Amino acid sequence: MTMAIPRGLKRSFGITRLVEAMATPHALDRYLELVDPMVTVRDLRAEVTDVHRTTSDSITVTLRPTRQWAGFEAGQFVQVGVVIDGVRHTRCYSPCDSQHRADGRIELTVKAHPGGLVSGHLHEHARVGLVVDLSQAAGTFRLPNPRPADVLLISGGSGITPVLSMLRTLVDEGFAGRITFLHYANAESDVAQLAELRSLAAAHGNVELTLAYTESGDGDLHGFFGPEHLAAAAPWHASAQTYLCGPPGLMTSVAALYDELGLADQLHREEFTPTVIVPEGTAGGTLAFTASSAEAENSGATILEQAEASGLTPEYGCRMGICFSCTAVKRSGCTKNLLTGELESDPDQPIQLCVNVPVGDVAIEI
Ligand SMILES: Cc1cc2nc3c(=O)[nH]c(=O)nc-3n(C[C@H](O)[C@H](O)[C@H](O)COP(=O)(O)OP(=O)(O)OC[C@H]3O[C@@H](n4cnc5c(N)ncnc54)[C@H](O)[C@@H]3O)c2cc1C
Ligand code: FES
Repeated sequence: MTMAIPRGLKRSFGITRLVEAMATPHALDRYLELVDPMVTVRDLRAEVTDVHRTTSDSITVTLRPTRQWAGFEAGQFVQVGVVIDGVRHTRCYSPCDSQHRADGRIELTVKAHPGGLVSGHLHEHARVGLVVDLSQAAGTFRLPNPRPADVLLISGGSGITPVLSMLRTLVDEGFAGRITFLHYANAESDVAQLAELRSLAAAHGNVELTLAYTESGDGDLHGFFGPEHLAAAAPWHASAQTYLCGPPGLMTSVAALYDELGLADQLHREEFTPTVIVPEGTAGGTLAFTASSAEAENSGATILEQAEASGLTPEYGCRMGICFSCTAVKRSGCTKNLLTGELESDPDQPIQLCVNVPVGDVAIEI
C-alpha cells in the first residue's frame, strides 16, 4: 500500500492532527510505517545499522534513531520494542557508547538469556535494516555534573554496558581524574569489549583496567569480589565515586562492603534484574482479571506474577517498576506498591503490575 504524504507535513502540526483524525482509528504513524517505518511523525524508532557478534552469548547492535531522539546521558537506559508473533514486547537496554558520539547513533550490547524472549529474538533476527521501537533515554544512574574527582567503575557480565558508556564519555571529555574499570567475567572470552577496553587504558594514563575472572586464572584478579579486590584495584576508592552494575551476587557483595566501610553514599548502582521483595502475609481474597474473564485466589505474589501464573501474558519490560510498560487499570479493590509501601484503594486507577500486590479482593483490567 502507498500513501501520498503532503509536503511540509513533518513541520505542520495542524495538518498532522487533521491527517491523524482522518486516519482514525489508526494513528498516522501506523500508516506511515507501511511506507517506511523510519518516517514517523510522533513515534521514536531506530534502524539497526550494524550487528556484531561479540562473544558466544552477546551481540552488539548499532541503532540509528529517528529525528525525535533527544540523546542520552552515560548510564541511562532505553526501551527497545520488537514484535514477536504479532505481539509487541519491550525491554530495557543501556547504551554502551559515549553520550558525545558524533553521529547520534547508539550501541547496545545484548546478552542472550536462556529462554529469554526479546534477547533471544534479537540474537536470532537482528540484522542491518531491522527497525525497532525505541523510547527516550531514562534513569537516574548517571554521572554527576560537575564530574567527580576520581571514578571507580565496577561491572560484571552484561552489566558492563552503562559503566562502559561512563568510561567512554569521561575519556571523550578529557577527564583528568583517576578512573579504574574493574570488570568481572567468567573468562577473557566473555568480555565483549576487551580490545577497546585495553586500548582505552593504553591510550590514557589515568585509566586503569582491572579484569577479574571468576573461572579462569589468567586475569588481573581471580575469583569473586571482596575487600582484597577493592584494595588491589583502587586503593583510593574512599575518595572516589563508585558506579556499579552487574549480577545480583556482585551487587550485594559490593554494597555490603561499602556499607561496612561507611561509603554507602559514594556507591551508585544500576540493577538489570528485579529486586522487588514480596512480603509475607499478603495472600487472601480473589484477584479478578476483568478483560480475560479469569480469576485467581490471591497468592500474595505481584499482580504480574499472578496473571502469568493464571496463563495470561500481560506486557512487561523491567519487572522492577521503572519502565511502566506493565501499567493496567485497577477497577476496584486495594493494592499495595512494594517500592513505596503506598496503598491505593480508589477505583479505575492505573497501577504497575510488577510492583503491586493485591490487598484482599481486587479487579484488574487485563
Ligand atoms: C535498566 C536496565 C538496563 C538493562 N540493560 C541491559 C543491557 O545493556 N544489556 C542486556 O543484555 N540486558 C540489559 N537489561 C536486561 C534486559 O532488559 C532484559 O531483561 C534481558 O534482555 C532479558 O530479556 P528477555 O526478554 O530476553 O528475557 P525474558 O523473556 O524477559 O526472561 C528473563 C528471564 O526471566 C525468566 N522468565 C520469563 N518469564 C517468566 C515467567 N513468567 N516466570 C518466571 N520466569 C520467567 C526467563 O526464563 C529468563 O531467564 C537491562 C535491564 C534493565 C532493567
Ligand atoms: S515491567 Fe517495567 S514497570 Fe512493570
